[in-house]
Amino acid sequence: MRTYNLGFIACGARNRVYARNLRRQYGERINIAAICDTDRGAAEEFKIEFGHPDTAVYADFRELITNHQSLDGLLIAPPNHLHEEPAVMAFEHGIHTLLEKPLAHNPEACNRIAEAYSRSTSRVTMGFVLRYTPFYRTIIKMVNEGKVGQVKTLHADEIAGPVLSSVFFRTWRGKRAYTGDLLLEKCCHDLDLINAILGVNPIRVSAFGRRDHYLPVQGWGPRCKECTEKDTCAFSTVLWARTFDQTIENGVNEYVDFSNDKCVYNDDHDVMDRQSQLIEYEGGVLVSFSVALGGPQHRRTIDITGTQGRLVGDFATNRILFYAMGTETPEDIKIEHEPSGHGGGDSVITRSFIESLDDSDHVSDAKLKDALKSALLAFRCDEARDRGEVLPVTFIKGVEAIRD
Ligand SMILES: NC(=O)c1ccc[n+]([C@@H]2O[C@H](COP(=O)([O-])OP(=O)(O)OC[C@H]3O[C@@H](n4cnc5c(N)ncnc54)[C@H](O)[C@@H]3O)[C@@H](O)[C@H]2O)c1
Repeated sequence: MRTYNLGFIACGARNRVYARNLRRQYGERINIAAICDTDRGAAEEFKIEFGHPDTAVYADFRELITNHQSLDGLLIAPPNHLHEEPAVMAFEHGIHTLLEKPLAHNPEACNRIAEAYSRSTSRVTMGFVLRYTPFYRTIIKMVNEGKVGQVKTLHADEIAGPVLSSVFFRTWRGKRAYTGDLLLEKCCHDLDLINAILGVNPIRVSAFGRRDHYLPVQGWGPRCKECTEKDTCAFSTVLWARTFDQTIENGVNEYVDFSNDKCVYNDDHDVMDRQSQLIEYEGGVLVSFSVALGGPQHRRTIDITGTQGRLVGDFATNRILFYAMGTETPEDIKIEHEPSGHGGGDSVITRSFIESLDDSDHVSDAKLKDALKSALLAFRCDEARDRGEVLPVTFIKGVEAIRD
């Protein structure tokens, strides 16, 4: 059985999840040949935990790609504003990649990545891990098979709990210039899933966003440990250390960082607190989607009504209720999944990525054009929010021409 020579650009939380799953699934058949991170300490820790003494360590991804052009695969997961350059360079060298979502932090960078991909022979697995979960695969299948009939409305939301919310205040995720804002960073997954479930394109959008709660409060902060609110604030790492159940946010405990206790009110983030959008799709399907930071737990729910019934899904409990037309008692579908993060998707996506390295005809669940669509839709929602207008989404159509 063959060995896979892999490179990792960025040694942060996401690539650590991938490395851990790959090691568990493929053992020594995974050769971590080269890694790169501008934070030397993060790279060294990654090397010790997942690599071997000969794993090459770089601070500059250009050197990694130049020196390791024959890698079987490259996992690219730096912050969003740093996706473009390594992705384009990997595609120019025909290297197969697992490229993290969102495609990039602005439309121009997204389009340049898509152009480079179109010119390349690289196969790409986009980091849309929720596409690989039994929960969303079941919903996509049920809708595709006509269980709810013709879809008329879809409502979905994502509410981030204290831990996931805190990374939007305490890390690079707090800056629009790095993330492309809250909707893109947190919910390009959800927009992609909505596109996949409906199988048709969005045609116009309107949106409202607010940034009015996580604002400076005099006398609080600047660090939890010296704050007057440290015993009561939902974001207090002092309180978390005493009371926090690390399973509470469905396996997001890789984001619990007790050493980073910046005040979530008195930091200098500029992403939205919350945002709601109405999106009209082809065929008259009406979609509403909301995201909010600062909920009590992490939650994703979806509610789809069609001509034959209604489907209500709760990702946190892995439960789907289906109400056939004219019945009060739902069919109760309990979804089982592998014991890995993101509702089991984390281990399925790594297997799919490895399969893509062996199979030249491999088509990923979420293609690069899907990532482009979800990103362009997020940017358009943000533009509609800022302009206070209903905007058409006609440019999505050109995306179909991009190869699978
Ligand atoms: N698919 C998912 O569900 C999912 C989940 C989490 C994160 N992500 C995505 O993964 C990416 C990384 O997120 P994360 O949570 O790992 O962030 P993180 O902050 O934990 O890690 C980012 C790492 O990138 C490193 N870095 C910064 N600049 C670099 C550069 N020029 N070259 C190499 N490394 C550099 C940092 O030092 C850090 O170690 C983001 O795009 C995020 O949206 C996806």
